[in-house]
Amino acid sequence: MAKLLSFLSFLLYSQLFIMTSSASSPPALCPQDQSNALLQLKTNFSLDRQTSIFCSDAGIKTYPKTKSWKKGTDCCKWDGIQCESKTGNVIGLDLSCSWLRGSIYSNSNLFHLKHLQKLNLAHNDLQRSKILPEYVSLLSLTHLNFTFSSLDGQVPLQLSRLSRLVSLDLSFSGVSLESSVLKKIIQNLTQLRDLALDHIYLATIEPNIFANLPSSLTTLSLNQCDLKGEFPERIVSFPNLKKLVLSENGDLTGDFSKSSWSNSLQYLDIEFTNIAGKLPNAIGNLKSLQFLGISGCKFSGSIPASIGNLKDMWYLSLFRNDFSGPIPHSLSNLGQLKILALSENRLVGKIPNMFGKLTKLIGLTLGANRFTGTIPSSICEIRKLQILDLSNNTLSGTIPPCLGKLTSLESFDVSNNHLVGPIPSGKLRKFHNESYEGNPGLCGFPLSKKCNRE
Ligand SMILES: *[C@@H]1O[C@H](CO)[C@@H](O)[C@H](O)[C@H]1NC(C)=O
Ligand SMILES: *[C@@H]1O[C@H](CO)[C@@H](O)[C@H](O)[C@H]1NC(C)=O
Ligand SMILES: *[C@@H]1O[C@H](CO)[C@@H](O)[C@H](O)[C@H]1NC(C)=O
Ligand SMILES: *[C@@H]1O[C@H](CO)[C@@H](O)[C@H](O)[C@H]1NC(C)=O
Ligand SMILES: *[C@@H]1O[C@H](CO)[C@@H](O)[C@H](O)[C@H]1NC(C)=O
Repeated sequence: MAKLLSFLSFLLYSQLFIMTSSASSPPALCPQDQSNALLQLKTNFSLDRQTSIFCSDAGIKTYPKTKSWKKGTDCCKWDGIQCESKTGNVIGLDLSCSWLRGSIYSNSNLFHLKHLQKLNLAHNDLQRSKILPEYVSLLSLTHLNFTFSSLDGQVPLQLSRLSRLVSLDLSFSGVSLESSVLKKIIQNLTQLRDLALDHIYLATIEPNIFANLPSSLTTLSLNQCDLKGEFPERIVSFPNLKKLVLSENGDLTGDFSKSSWSNSLQYLDIEFTNIAGKLPNAIGNLKSLQFLGISGCKFSGSIPASIGNLKDMWYLSLFRNDFSGPIPHSLSNLGQLKILALSENRLVGKIPNMFGKLTKLIGLTLGANRFTGTIPSSICEIRKLQILDLSNNTLSGTIPPCLGKLTSLESFDVSNNHLVGPIPSGKLRKFHNESYEGNPGLCGFPLSKKCNRE
């Protein structure tokens, strides 16, 4: 028995020993040539906090990462560097938001980092450098990010040889992209999952070429690209699609009514396009949807009650379309909503008294519809409300006095309704009388009409 026990403890001990010894075998150090290449690269940039000014908007901390790069230390420990643990090869270089100012020329030491898989130069001032054909020597690249990096010139055709690219972000980078090059990129980069080209001029490309993106796509972002013509509807059905942004392409048409929208969708922003159609009933199945922006489009039909199933939704903006019918009461289930914008449609009926659970709302706009009935007092429970627009309807009755207690309100508009009685005391008297005009029955400050009993 004792023998057995000691054998077992020996087993246990040796097991532990193996585990600790393998855990303590140190990761390889950064190879000297790569360390040198990085140190030389560092000397090609000056530092200026201003170059990374938009990072804080994106919620990213900015600091000069290259300050930690010092000769004689292991480059794998430097800020922004990722090494492969077995070989020590530098496989990741994330210099986003690092205050860098300087150009990258074809003799740059950057191109000596042959093992790079991820390269992020976002939010620096690369002083109108070009995307050089030399980037193609970094054949292992899977992620390439130049967003907000002040580039210039044409994207070279050679970029489409980086066939391992999974993520390509050229949004707001300053580059130009020819139709033939984009075609090749889409055709050749079959691993691509994230593509962001916001603010790149694409007026001459045929939007249908995006239909050739791999169906494993997760993100496509094309805000303000001057896209013209019909967007291929099948993309909204790509099974892994999480984020689709087509906003502010006023001449982009399309109709997603008949496609089954991807169950993975979290973020759909097609605001201010010419996209038309109806919201499908099945939208209620898209349980991951958090952001639905279709303002300023050509949508019609009713708002499906099934939207009330989308419990994670925080942004629902349908304003300036042709929606008709009532507000579905089920919207009261959307407890995460911060923005609910339904103005400028043809919605009818009463405004449901449904705001008791929508306490996270900061913007509620229902103006320029055909709502009747009174202003529901449950709006007073939205303590954080900053914007309330009920103008241009046919609302009647008095303004609930409790609205005067909404101290966060910065914008308030009930003009052009059939409201009567005194304007409540408190916050509501701080607004200009334009917020109240077009209601002959309203009285009291800030209107010049006095109330009888005041
Ligand atoms: C970058 O720095 C290296 C070494 O300091 C230098 O040889 C090279 O000319 C520089 N390149 C640019 C583009 O400034
Ligand atoms: C497309 O990719 C293949 C390899 O994946 C490459 O041989 C070819 O040159 C690429 N075409 C272009 C135009 O880059
Ligand atoms: C590119 O980098 C920026 C800054 O780090 C980041 O916010 C953005 O999400 C990246 N783009 C992609 C497609 O990952
Ligand atoms: C609201 O009504 C006023 C007065 O009729 C009109 O001038 C204004 O354009 C309307 N606003 C909207 C957004 O329809
Ligand atoms: C709004 O206020 C101005 C003075 O600031 C006043 O001249 C005007 O008559 C008021 N309008 C209404 C509708 O009360």
